[in-house]
Order: sequence, then structure tokens, then C-alpha cells
Amino acid sequence: MTSNRVVNASPPADLSAAACAAQAQAHCPYSNYAVGAAIRTASGAIYAGCNVENASYPEGTCAEAGAIAAMVLDGEREIVEVVVVTGGSTPGTPCGGCRQRLREFTGPDAVIYATTVDGVELAVTMADLLPASFGPEFLAH
Ligand code: THU
Repeated sequence: MTSNRVVNASPPADLSAAACAAQAQAHCPYSNYAVGAAIRTASGAIYAGCNVENASYPEGTCAEAGAIAAMVLDGEREIVEVVVVTGGSTPGTPCGGCRQRLREFTGPDAVIYATTVDGVELAVTMADLLPASFGPEFLAH
């Protein structure tokens, strides 16, 4: 955790509230690990998602994926900050797949806040969360 470059900022209250409300809706009977994610876009809009598990385990989806789907459905494409809320004593940072999903819609300076319900916080930039990443600009030709 300390190897991440920590951004000196706390998660915005409105985005945290949206992530917590989403976490409360999580469908996670297999892991019992509820996750909520909330995205703020460049327009100021907020989109939230929760993890949705499945009896066929690999078919479950992450909270970040749900929030991104809601954002795209609404016609938005530019993420400026994200709050992820998990249980446990350590903030659950986005999984590898979700780092790539977020990368699609962020610049390098977008801030991702990982928080626990108990208020433990970690904040990292997208560039630190997924270094040397591949993104849409590689396909621009
Ligand atoms: N999970 C997320 O929702 N987001 C992440 O970035 C990490 C993991 C969920 C997936 C699964 O429902 C549960 O957490 C345990 O892995």
C-alpha cells in the first residue's frame, strides 16, 4: 500500500455517499464482500455501481464495471474521479481488470479513492494505479 503514490486529498463527500449507497445494494452472497463504486465525470455527473455476483462464479461483475456501464449508457465518456468503498480493514483497490476499464475513460491525473466503511482511505492517480498502461490513443490512426 505504501508503494502507491498517495494523493494528499480525502474523498469528496458526495461521491463517497453515492459509493456507500451503491455498496448497500451489492449482490455478494458468495464472497460477502460488498463493493460500491461512484464515478464523477467531467460534466459533474455521478454514476454508481455495485458488485453483482453469480452462482456461476466467473460471471460476477465488479462495482466499477457497473458504474462505467451506467456512465456510458448516459452518453458520458470522461471520468475525473472515482470512489470505491469496501468492507475489511484495508481499502480494496480496483482489481486489474477494473484498472483497465477505468483507464479507458480517464486521463493520467484522475484520482481513484479506495475507502473502507470504517473511513480508512487511500488515494492514487490513474497513472500510479496502472503504470505504463495501454489505452485508446494506441489505436488512434
Ligand atoms: N470486486 C469489485 O467489485 N471490484 C474490484 O475492483 C475488486 C473486486 C468484487 C468482485 C467480487 O464480487 C468481490 O469483490 C470479491 O472479489
